[in-house]
Amino acid sequence: KIIHANHAAIKILAVNEQSIEEENYDDLIQGLNPELTVENLMKRCEFEPESEVFESAGRYYDIRYDRFKDENGKDVGLIMIIQDITQRMKLESMQMDFVANVSHELKTPLTTIKSYTETLLDGAVSDPETARSFLGIIDSEADRMNRLVKDLLQLSRMENNQEKWNMKESDLVKLLTSAVTKVALTAEAKKQKLNCLFEADARVAVVMDKDRIEQVILNVLANAINYTQEGGRIDIDLVVQDREAHIIIDDNGIGIPEDEQSRVFERFFRVDKARSRSMGGTGLGLAISKQIIEEHNGRIELTSRENKGTKVKIILPLSPAVTRGIPNIE
Ligand SMILES: Nc1ncnc2c1ncn2[C@@H]1O[C@H](COP(=O)(O)OP(=O)(O)O)[C@@H](O)[C@H]1O
Ligand SMILES: [Mg+2]
Repeated sequence: KIIHANHAAIKILAVNEQSIEEENYDDLIQGLNPELTVENLMKRCEFEPESEVFESAGRYYDIRYDRFKDENGKDVGLIMIIQDITQRMKLESMQMDFVANVSHELKTPLTTIKSYTETLLDGAVSDPETARSFLGIIDSEADRMNRLVKDLLQLSRMENNQEKWNMKESDLVKLLTSAVTKVALTAEAKKQKLNCLFEADARVAVVMDKDRIEQVILNVLANAINYTQEGGRIDIDLVVQDREAHIIIDDNGIGIPEDEQSRVFERFFRVDKARSRSMGGTGLGLAISKQIIEEHNGRIELTSRENKGTKVKIILPLSPAVTRGIPNIE
């Protein structure tokens, strides 16, 4: 028999608040875990309070219990605290995954560096051509580790609110145009066409940290180039709609399978790890981009069709001065 249960317990046990005192505890607990009968629990906490964690229907519960005595030290019942720790378990498992991912991503280039260095020390150094090519590999693997560490530090700064944001009203058209110019050579090397569909002499004022927004645009452009075949095309547009600026980067590349699209903003998620690595990707680009855009009260969205192409939208609020109709000076 249940003497008392608070709101939270009633919710976890999934019972009606009115009928709780008429319910039989053993019957109710079956729903969570058949092992937790009064008899079992009383036995387990004979000498001291006990606790355990168990799973039921995809949720995790932490229970603590002890015998409840009257003033003569006679057992009169059992007191039990049930805590739903699903959220905490999820966080812990995400943290563990993250550490495992970081270690793996750092270990891969390190293994390569180590094996080429050893081969050089073993004598390969005497052949200048081999030595030069090995050193080139070592150099680029060290660069990869550097990029990874830089990305990780930036993510961690943003997460701890230590990133310094230099928010100023600036022109998004100019920023976008200059970002496109920066990747033009890379696209040209892959014989890809970069089509700027927006009007180059328009002005779209947005309050932003220019360096960070440029980082996002370059990131998305680099993805479009990387994950599009030779000879492909990438359309770049900027439209203003409902007091927001929409940057649209649309490629006709390899695309992303539908069931993986929702995961591309997760850290280290890549559709094809080997491919991404060979392009120099860390798998953190979109995760960082998302954080930066959210810091600007904007959104970043991705839609894609496998073997057809990918469209990324970066949406930023227009500068309030513009939306209030005040002409701005810069
Ligand atoms: N334009 C795109 N076309 C196809 N796949 C893409 C595109 N942009 C991103 N992706 C997929 O999303 C993954 C995550 O992107 P990102 O966070 O930038 O990491 P990466 O360092 O691998 O580029 C990529 O590895 C790739 O699988
Ligand atoms: Mg990327």
